[in-house]
Amino acid sequence: MKIGIDKISFNASNKYISIEELAIKRNVEIEKYTKGIGQIEMSIIDRTQDIVVLGALASKDILDKEDKEKIDLIIFATESSIDQSKAASIYIKNILNINNYCKCIEIKQACFSATAALDFARGHILQNENSKVLIIASDIAKYGVNTSGEVTQGAGAVAMLITKNPKILEFNNDAVSYTEDVMDFWRPNYSEVAFVDGKLSVSKYLELLSKVYEKFDRKNLSAICLHVPYSKMAYKGLISITNDEKILSEFENSITYNKKVGNIYTGSLYLSLISLLANSNSLKEGDNIGMYSYGSGAVAEFFSLKLVKGYEKMIDKEFFDNKLKNRKKLTVEEYENIFFEKTDNNLQEINEKIYLKGIKEDKRIYEIKRDFNVEI
Ligand code: CAA
Repeated sequence: MKIGIDKISFNASNKYISIEELAIKRNVEIEKYTKGIGQIEMSIIDRTQDIVVLGALASKDILDKEDKEKIDLIIFATESSIDQSKAASIYIKNILNINNYCKCIEIKQACFSATAALDFARGHILQNENSKVLIIASDIAKYGVNTSGEVTQGAGAVAMLITKNPKILEFNNDAVSYTEDVMDFWRPNYSEVAFVDGKLSVSKYLELLSKVYEKFDRKNLSAICLHVPYSKMAYKGLISITNDEKILSEFENSITYNKKVGNIYTGSLYLSLISLLANSNSLKEGDNIGMYSYGSGAVAEFFSLKLVKGYEKMIDKEFFDNKLKNRKKLTVEEYENIFFEKTDNNLQEINEKIYLKGIKEDKRIYEIKRDFNVEI
């Protein structure tokens, strides 16, 4: 049975800052951030947005009425969890009016868990061929003001619908996985921000890439997407495994959106995939796309996906470009004031369709402005 990605979209919050302005404020040479790290902009959330809001906004782009009736599994992949017990996908099910006869779970392994979710979805569809599985990869990357990781923060979500006979990409079932116990990046339960051994994380990303790529069999790839904590990291990874001109020529397409969003952890690899599909003019049916997934701690996997006939009709570049263009630009001071602010008990009304109103009696209150003539 052919199984894979039937629909895909992202949401990168509605605010951003300029990386050049961040460099000036931090008294860092601009080129260190724009060339050495390779970023241009960074998505920012305020306290009315969280992983659920970002995930719901990404999912609403791709789901129609029939999907909502047929989805019987929703997997939420995140390392920015809002609850130690309840799965974030339950909120998504409610916000988007997805039928109740579905299983909602949340999974974690740093930036890797969305890749594990794809495996889970494939197994589920193999046993229930008419199922549709919604995967949401949603994260908010925070290291703190004036830290070396600050320039590699970001916020956003990717939503994917997994089905049989998919309209975008088919799984090739050729994954090579590798796990090693490493303290390169972690976030204990008591901390709002991640701890990171930056240099170790960079060397492990590259070392584990070489380990999984060397055992990966299918080398007839037309492009490769890598986990993008920042675009220079992905570039270093790419040139460490290939000098194929065609693959290298697709690299810029695969990081166009990531350079403007920043790191979204679980969603970063899949944002890179969207970026590649939206911005490349030379990919075609039957082409294989290599995928490198890396989650600190550390789990790595290399696998590939095959483009199916007519995939380009499912990818709306203008729609994706506009999502980024329509964000509001903030000053660095405004970002410092809102990004680390905690959601509190003061419920607030804002003019957005889906947002986090506040916390009441320890329960998160999401506001959904339903227009019953239009599907949310
Ligand atoms: N012009 C051009 N380039 C310049 C420059 C200038 N004026 N000044 C410096 N640079 C270059 C440096 O030479 C360096 O390039 P190389 O990597 O090619 O050597 C680059 O800019 C970065 O400089 P530093 O290494 O000095 O940067 P830093 O120590 O301030 O921090 C970092 C970089 C370690 C990535 C830090 O931002 C960080 O810790 N980020 C979070 C961790 C992370 O993203 N790790 C990635 C792998 S782990 C992973 O992928 C999982 C995940 O999502 C977290």
